Amino acid sequence: MLAARVHRYGPPEVLSFDRMDTPAPGRGEALVRVRAAALNPKDVIVRKGKFRWLTGPEGGRRFPLRVGQDFAGEIVATDGPDPVGTPVFGMLGGLRTFGACATHVLAKHDWYAPRPPGLDDVGAAALPLAALTALQALRDDGRLEAGASVLVNGASGGVGAYGVQLAKALGARVTGVSSARNRELVLGLGAAGHVDYAATELATLDERFDVIFDAFGNRSPDELGPILAPGGTYVTTVPGPHAVLWQLRSYLGGRRSRLVVVRSRRRDLDFLSRAVEAGTLRPVVDRVLPFEELAAAHAYLETRRARGKVVVTLPDPPP
Ligand SMILES: NC(=O)c1ccc[n+]([C@@H]2O[C@H](COP(=O)([O-])OP(=O)(O)OC[C@H]3O[C@@H](n4cnc5c(N)ncnc54)[C@H](OP(=O)(O)O)[C@@H]3O)[C@@H](O)[C@H]2O)c1
Repeated sequence: MLAARVHRYGPPEVLSFDRMDTPAPGRGEALVRVRAAALNPKDVIVRKGKFRWLTGPEGGRRFPLRVGQDFAGEIVATDGPDPVGTPVFGMLGGLRTFGACATHVLAKHDWYAPRPPGLDDVGAAALPLAALTALQALRDDGRLEAGASVLVNGASGGVGAYGVQLAKALGARVTGVSSARNRELVLGLGAAGHVDYAATELATLDERFDVIFDAFGNRSPDELGPILAPGGTYVTTVPGPHAVLWQLRSYLGGRRSRLVVVRSRRRDLDFLSRAVEAGTLRPVVDRVLPFEELAAAHAYLETRRARGKVVVTLPDPPP
């Protein structure tokens, strides 16, 4: 098999394509022949060693490090319940399990599900991590209920584009925040309103939101407190001491604030599939590049200007 790996921290060029032995599935696992793999900011974090105490040798891992969590393809060997040949999509679970950016990946049964009907591998690979984050942030952390009003900051990004669609699917009225150039995209995803962050101070908006989903993660519950409805929840995606502090403070009676920590779960992947089938969720794919251009794909993701997801397609493994 071929796998993308980094042998040292650095720019996109440190990504290498390494031949490896194809593993056999362990108990309850499936070996997936990956056809498409989506990128996430966490891949950049691993490559640069930003959280090296968690994902690098400093945290007990060894170079070369694998990258990638999102995949779509078909099962080629299995000790799980789904037969060989089943088209699947999924996200490697665990805080530091990587390796989906490869021609083959081992996945536990709970980390993948049958591919949503009507989607190809690229569309299916574009969903898991970002859409699961949005779903879990809104439904679980945000306790979103039908009829609620939701503000999604970063509404044109990987996570935010699914946040807009899923909030609407859950029955909310959605306002999306992005730059002006992505206004039509955000409205086209189902937002009832749009705010250009360069033109409007968010804290001065007239509306009060039951949930503020800071998918981009550059705001704070203090800054956006004036537009959070009483009893509402602020959910951020970006971990750090600040997010822990906000959450602790909210347990002491302050504004309800949560950090979403995405989990790979089959029942939530199935939820996404049903939403795709119902027509309330569609993949948002900015760019599809061949595996050989993974460095360019990483460089593009790092601009923080992608509209939805960046996906790479996997070649046939070497004989
Ligand atoms: N906690 C978790 O479990 C978890 C899970 C997934 C992701 N994350 C984190 O969530 C964050 C977002 O991930 P992502 O995949 O959505 O990132 P992304 O796809 O790289 O985000 C790109 C988008 O961000 C928008 N953006 C850039 N500057 C902005 C600003 N100042 N205000 C609002 N939007 C802005 C851009 O839109 P414009 O060009 O219109 O500005 C672009 O569409 C990352 O930090 C990631 O690490 C955390």
